[in-house]
Amino acid sequence: MAIKITWLAHSAFALEIDGHSILIDPFVTGNPLAPYPVDDLYPEYILVSHGHGDHVGDTVDIVARTGAATISNVEISGWLRHHGVKNAHGQNTGGCADYGFMTVKFTQAFHSSSLPDGSYGGMPNGFIITGGGYRLYFAGDTALFGDMALIGDEGIDLAFLPIGDYFTMGVDDAVRAVTLIRPRLVLPMHYNTFPPIQQQAGIWANRVSSETDAQPIVLDPGQSYSLQPGA
Ligand code: NI
Ligand code: MN
Repeated sequence: MAIKITWLAHSAFALEIDGHSILIDPFVTGNPLAPYPVDDLYPEYILVSHGHGDHVGDTVDIVARTGAATISNVEISGWLRHHGVKNAHGQNTGGCADYGFMTVKFTQAFHSSSLPDGSYGGMPNGFIITGGGYRLYFAGDTALFGDMALIGDEGIDLAFLPIGDYFTMGVDDAVRAVTLIRPRLVLPMHYNTFPPIQQQAGIWANRVSSETDAQPIVLDPGQSYSLQPGA
């Protein structure tokens, strides 16, 4: 029972859950901080939180090469099918689905969600991923919202929160989010990729340590963190 989390910069993560490989928001091409070429990635599943290009990213190309299944909202799933994705799971906000080694529940996110060609992308989402003996909350691109407390009631081991500001929560609101979600561990994302979202993650991490009960985990692009029993 273990999860290995590798940050691919921006909101892109590679997760290994009990040996199953998943990608979240695989924005590699055009991501100036991407640590690996996209051809190094061999996921079973790709989760896409919303339609924006910096989240759909390389999904279509990765699926064409690997045959990975996708998990996104209904509208994005329809768009992916039009782009050749055969195994597109279309969930929607509030719904949970069981993929065997993990369940994925779709949360709300306060943001927008048009697709790269201007198509309607439905509502933006976050995910509660339960598997490998742990529960993760990936907030997606979102503003702070009070109902993060309800997500916290589910018992979150590790939360992924945007801290970049400008397009999403910034440092202040991401600290407030930690007090609502009450995770054991929290990991920052969606920062430093582009000039408007430059942040010093160390400043945010110091505030998380001093103002909340959570432990911050700041990764460099390409760096990993493992959740295993006792950790
Ligand atoms: Ni976005
Ligand atoms: Mn974004």
